[in-house]
Amino acid sequence: MKLSDYEKSMLDGKEGDAVRMSMEILVALGEIYDAEKLIEINSAHVAGLSLKSHGIAGMEWVEDLARSGAKVKIPTTLNVIGEDRTKHIGFPGDWSEHQLRIGKAYENLGCFGTSSCVPYYLGFTPRFGQHIAWAESSAIVYVNSVLAARTNREGGPSALAAALTGRTPYYGLHIKNNRYGQICYHITTDLSGVADYGALGAYIGKRVKTLIPIISGIKRTPTKEELVYFGAALASSGSVALYHIVGVTPEAPTLEIAAGLNNYETITIGKKELEQGYSQLNSGQDNAIDFVAIGCPHCSLEQLAEIAELIKNKKVSPNITLWIHTNVVIRTLATQLGYIQTIENAGGRVTQDLCVVLSIPESLGLKRLATNSPKMAFYAPGGNGLPTFYGSVKQCINAAVSGLWQ
Ligand code: F3S
Repeated sequence: MKLSDYEKSMLDGKEGDAVRMSMEILVALGEIYDAEKLIEINSAHVAGLSLKSHGIAGMEWVEDLARSGAKVKIPTTLNVIGEDRTKHIGFPGDWSEHQLRIGKAYENLGCFGTSSCVPYYLGFTPRFGQHIAWAESSAIVYVNSVLAARTNREGGPSALAAALTGRTPYYGLHIKNNRYGQICYHITTDLSGVADYGALGAYIGKRVKTLIPIISGIKRTPTKEELVYFGAALASSGSVALYHIVGVTPEAPTLEIAAGLNNYETITIGKKELEQGYSQLNSGQDNAIDFVAIGCPHCSLEQLAEIAELIKNKKVSPNITLWIHTNVVIRTLATQLGYIQTIENAGGRVTQDLCVVLSIPESLGLKRLATNSPKMAFYAPGGNGLPTFYGSVKQCINAAVSGLWQ
């Protein structure tokens, strides 16, 4: 792989061990994927901060890295952690202390402690065509598809290596010719709301796997939340890093432009397939639940406004734990606008920085989940041992109040 003199000096250790090790990771990745060179990037998003993925050894490793004086070279945001930074959840043992130490160590490397899977809601919004190195599957698919920035599906270590060097290997989705759609799904049914988009994403994701899907036939321009949850479902039920919606996403003004020179098969999706998407995400056996979690990916301000409106003047059932997840920026705005108080008056909790899947709700005795998140519905049954009901925010709030999934 061709390296500039400056890149060679980083690889030779002129900027210290952390940068040298980062360059070794990037060069090894580049060689695996036949990249001709490294390219400069505009931002990085580092994921994998959970204590589950780090363990104690990983926590001490990143603390040592921060103590060595290493600093990121480009604007770098952090993904979620497994604790609420406004007030400890009460997870057993040293979970909270260790989880917060991991977050702090990454901040000491110069990363922004915004801890969210939706940094693009918080002003860290890549522009069309910009090269970036982001981890977190739901964020990757959003910035590639909806913003037309360019990133591969980075893991935590490669995103951190990119942040510490300001470089990433030039391959995959950084190259325009690799971004054309490879299969078309033509939608013949109406889609209404975030839940329908999540179910559609789950259905397509399971079948398309790693291909780039083009979606045609969408009658109404989706909201940003619908696009976020569609992508999150595609990226979890499948491994999709980029999709196109004809007439909606920037690289798909027409079907022909979205597909480029690729030959593609067209598959029709109607009501029956959408229902199969819902079934895929429902693993709950009866109506009984004890846990409702909303905000995966983290809630936007508009979603918190909707929840506050739905729960106003109601009370969460005493048998239910209701958590709603967002980040410091949106939680602060929602506090000023009174949404947090309304939700808390009803008995719900709005967390900051937390990801349910990466935390341990099962350690609190919670057993059956209801959610509006296709990603949580995909991971929580296996990852947290929580059979899950999936549906709209309205269904989730009704379930929280009545204590039953209906
Ligand atoms: Fe975000 Fe965690 Fe869901 S990273 S998308 S809240 S699984």
